[in-house]
Amino acid sequence: MANLEVDFLGMHFPNPFMLASGPPTRTAAMIRRAFDAGWGGAVTKTILFQPSPDRRPRLKAHRNEGRNIGMENIEVLSQLSVEQWQNDLAEIKAACPERPVWASLGASEKSEWIRLTEMIQETGIDALELNVSCPHGMPGRGMGAFIGQNAELTGQVVAWVKGVAKIPVIVKLTPNVTDIAFVAKAAQNSGADGLCASNSVASLNGIDLDTLDPTPSVGGFSIYGGYSGPGIKPIALRCVAKIAKATGLPVSGLGGIDEWADTVEFFAVGAVTVQVCTTVMWRGYGFINDLKAGLNGYLDKKGYPDIRSILGVALPKIVDFPSLPLTWRVQARVDESCNGCLKCVTSCNDAGFQAIRGTKGKKVTIDSDKCDGCGLCEMVCPLNSITMVAL
Ligand SMILES: Cc1cc2nc3c(=O)[nH]c(=O)nc-3n(C[C@H](O)[C@H](O)[C@H](O)COP(=O)(O)O)c2cc1C
Repeated sequence: MANLEVDFLGMHFPNPFMLASGPPTRTAAMIRRAFDAGWGGAVTKTILFQPSPDRRPRLKAHRNEGRNIGMENIEVLSQLSVEQWQNDLAEIKAACPERPVWASLGASEKSEWIRLTEMIQETGIDALELNVSCPHGMPGRGMGAFIGQNAELTGQVVAWVKGVAKIPVIVKLTPNVTDIAFVAKAAQNSGADGLCASNSVASLNGIDLDTLDPTPSVGGFSIYGGYSGPGIKPIALRCVAKIAKATGLPVSGLGGIDEWADTVEFFAVGAVTVQVCTTVMWRGYGFINDLKAGLNGYLDKKGYPDIRSILGVALPKIVDFPSLPLTWRVQARVDESCNGCLKCVTSCNDAGFQAIRGTKGKKVTIDSDKCDGCGLCEMVCPLNSITMVAL
């Protein structure tokens, strides 16, 4: 069996799978239950002075053909007091000393950041995760993405916290910026020990067709919220790749992890640990069993002894456009499983190169003189009968 243990800024993790800051880490009792289930580490729900009350409802799914592909939330930060968290964190660390616990912190003023850091680090937790990335609710109070969307302010906050921190400081960044690498570098220049990406993507979930109210509807009103879950994975992967490349700092990666295979992709772009929020909300703490079994099976099958073997391996292969070889050619090939549904014919006719012909119920044919190798037919084929083959 491959070795799933990882080290992150001197912290030893029995496995790289962490619960992200959010509803699954709302209380100490919940975090302890997650550790019993096998999670390698956890980040608390964001701790702050003067919590804002939550609104109801605050969660709404984005569905496609009956399946949840993402979720918008308008939830704010922890409802528990800093003093309550002080007790709870000390209790978790006493009960589970071998599982790294990161406290997520949120504040606006310098004095608050410093006092919060001092009060929370006393509890014996392993690291601080600075939430400068929450897209809703908090920016109006000078917190969350209000900070993370401003590189200078981000650097300032990191410097304040680093001035008093005795444990590693990890900065959780927002994808809702023009260049996340620029903000990551500002955090690094101010002394950040590690980075985390990404928080949720700013969104408007939808409009109810009966009432024309925005959703989730709080008595007919809503706000722009944070989109999470499987739909944001490509955005989050890009964030992790960009900040890992730009800074070389250790990164904890998250955003849209929905199965073990997603975690391999995050490791390959430089994440040392990975975090999950939405999928745990949908499937519970038992999701850890799928993650561990799937990753173990993959590493064993590929002959990798540990996670280090795949860390950042994809990064040098992410290049700029002119570096993509113009001589590399592929074309579509169709196999015997094609049932002649003609979806590929429609797409190729109306958005491709009119290279596929066929009659309903019979295997289609591809004209290699016309096929440009764009890849559209492969994605619309419901039976995976079409593959792009190198010439
Ligand atoms: C309901 C909800 C509440 C969240 N609360 C917090 C929070 O308090 N602090 C924080 O840093 N991130 C918070 N997040 C963001 C998650 O930690 C995570 O960055 C984001 O959801 C993307 O990961 P996912 O696709 O695995 O959910 C919250 C997410 C959700 C869905």
